[in-house]
Amino acid sequence: MTIRFRQEILAIEPYSPGKPIEEVKQEYGLTDVIKLASNENPLGPGPLAVSALQKAAGDAHLYPDGSCSRLREALGKKLAVSPSQLIVGNGSDELLKLAAEVFLGPSDSVVMADPTFSEYQFAARLMGASVRRVPLKDFRHDLPAMAKAVDESTRMVFVCNPNNPTGTIVTHGELKAFLESVPAGVVVVLDEAYVEYVQDDGFPRALDLIGDYPNLLITRTFSKLHGLAGLRVGYGIAQPELISLLQRVREPFNVNALGQAAAVAALRDFEHAAQSVQVNESGKSFLYDLFTSLDLSYVRTNTNFVLVDVRRDSKEVFQRLLIKGVIIRSTHSFGLPTYLRVTVGTDGQNRRLAVALREVLA
Ligand SMILES: Cc1ncc(COP(=O)(O)O)c(C=O)c1O
Repeated sequence: MTIRFRQEILAIEPYSPGKPIEEVKQEYGLTDVIKLASNENPLGPGPLAVSALQKAAGDAHLYPDGSCSRLREALGKKLAVSPSQLIVGNGSDELLKLAAEVFLGPSDSVVMADPTFSEYQFAARLMGASVRRVPLKDFRHDLPAMAKAVDESTRMVFVCNPNNPTGTIVTHGELKAFLESVPAGVVVVLDEAYVEYVQDDGFPRALDLIGDYPNLLITRTFSKLHGLAGLRVGYGIAQPELISLLQRVREPFNVNALGQAAAVAALRDFEHAAQSVQVNESGKSFLYDLFTSLDLSYVRTNTNFVLVDVRRDSKEVFQRLLIKGVIIRSTHSFGLPTYLRVTVGTDGQNRRLAVALREVLA
């Protein structure tokens, strides 16, 4: 008997993750491998998060707090919003999927930039919705064109700010004009995964907009600046009505107890956060100088990664760097076949990348 399944899922390609460090070590007989491929914090988690994890480990036999009440309270205080405006997810990835489950069906469409973060397309396709992709302009979201792509069938728009893989931002004014032009029934998901790294003064004060736009959902994460990607904790911020819709489709214990404990502690670790930003800023300058000296053009970033044009098939460059024990990300899958996306590392990692890249491009 042939198994029957939802044909919509045939539009989805399984996610192909970056190569794990251990696999690269084994495959190429290397002892020292660095990964600058997934925009993780090269400093790791902060000491307060690690000690909270150790404390929480002994209670691993207990189910986690299903409503993440301590974490929502701590986040609420920090962001000056009510806990009823917050939902916590198993990474912000989960929140994107929950939103798709709430708002999308097979006859609906979503609008997003091209290229942008792949999970938006995944979430839409999972629900059988069709995807409209609007090309970036000068590596930035073209919000007026995205607003024009919205029609009767559109239920969601994704705005990745800063955008992955370009690191560029839309400004407060641009976002506000966009929110004004999108019909009130269309949900705008504003993905701010890299918000803590942003240096540009024009970046939206999105929390200030929530009161005026009941269709605005902001997502953020503990995976980047807070260095907790392995624990999977992200959160969404919106008006309570929108949050309560997402709460309906959330699994009862979607966020593990260790992740919750570490995230609460990470919010207090100002020193780790400040140091992480500082290492990122000096790493960005180093990479900008490196790319300039190699005569490669790059996109100035507001994140912890840099998009650089190597002016040749970047899969080859990726492969040659791999052999030298440096894992980065080629952006073929984003439709940018001559670019690499390089996560900003520690000073030592950036120097190691510089040596390897100079050799590979020579
Ligand atoms: C733009 C963007 N949004 C969301 C995520 C996912 O973050 P999380 O680890 O919270 O699921 C990433 C991860 O790379 C990202 O780049």
